Amino acid sequence: MLMQGGSRRHPRTTKGTTMSTLPGGTWTLGDLTVTRFGYGAMQLAGPWVMGPPADRGGALAVLREAVDVGITHIDTSDAYGPRVTNELIREALHPYPESLHIVTKVGATRDHQGGWPTARRPEDLRRQVHDNLKSLRLDVLDLVNLRLGDAEGPRPGSLAEAFETLAELRQQGLIRHLGVSNATAEQVTEAQGIAPIVCVQNMYNLAHRHDDDLIDRLATDGVAYVPFFPLGGFTPLQSSALSAVAARSEATPMSVALAWLLRRSPNILLIPGTSSTAHLRENIAGAGLSLSHEDLANLDDIGR
Ligand SMILES: NC(=O)c1ccc[n+]([C@@H]2O[C@H](COP(=O)([O-])OP(=O)(O)OC[C@H]3O[C@@H](n4cnc5c(N)ncnc54)[C@H](OP(=O)(O)O)[C@@H]3O)[C@@H](O)[C@H]2O)c1
Repeated sequence: MLMQGGSRRHPRTTKGTTMSTLPGGTWTLGDLTVTRFGYGAMQLAGPWVMGPPADRGGALAVLREAVDVGITHIDTSDAYGPRVTNELIREALHPYPESLHIVTKVGATRDHQGGWPTARRPEDLRRQVHDNLKSLRLDVLDLVNLRLGDAEGPRPGSLAEAFETLAELRQQGLIRHLGVSNATAEQVTEAQGIAPIVCVQNMYNLAHRHDDDLIDRLATDGVAYVPFFPLGGFTPLQSSALSAVAARSEATPMSVALAWLLRRSPNILLIPGTSSTAHLRENIAGAGLSLSHEDLANLDDIGR
């Protein structure tokens, strides 16, 4: 990654688990190798993703721990807080390790009520890209997702003008790779006709499986699928079948949910969020769990 203030990077030492031993191994986003086990920074901001965290030191510690254990993929947005998570990432990790890839998204801003108004006009997108470069202190953004739809989910409609704007910014060298988020399958196809995409970031988890067909199609195309709310987001996953598999495996339900996602398809990359280093370690330790055919069948039933 190209950083402002020179290209010096910390070779942060990795403790214990390393990139090659994190569950799921690695995936290549264009020319960037990332661990399939990544980290989602959204919930490091204050309640409902507004304002600063209650425990700033704890938030910085989680980010440093994520990199120390070998995670090389962090998901963020300048809309989180707003500006809060990008600034936490910069404070915790800049100058960034060579191996770390920060993925951000544009297409929405925040209002004073905590809403997520759409901001997809060309001038909005250019401003958001420059804001992300500034707040993360980077010269080039490794991967930018165009966020579509709204808080209720994907909405049909052409993304052409917005995605062409990002493709131009990529041509200008401000963005290395592009993706789409909260997108319909048709919008994914439309984006692929404008510029190469390396990932789709949509809501998906054990209980929310609308994208099953899209995941399989993207796997064939070599495009990553990055589920947001992998653990249920603001309403954590709860199911008796999940609890039963967890109890039988002597693992936590969250670990089982992550292990299932890694097993679901090789192009799935995880960005679970947590504000706790204990949960981060627990999730990494458990996501490598092997699930029996019977477990998989029981878990599959949750989303049907
Ligand atoms: N593209 C989009 O439109 C979009 C939308 C939403 C999110 N995202 C991205 O997706 C990422 C993941 O989403 P998310 O963080 O909202 O939801 P999530 O990963 O599904 O769940 C996070 C929640 O799970 C809890 N948790 C994590 N590990 C746990 C454990 N071992 N035991 C108990 N609770 C545990 C966390 O609480 P603790 O803090 O207590 O651990 C947190 O409340 C975000 O960080 C963001 O980067 C993208």
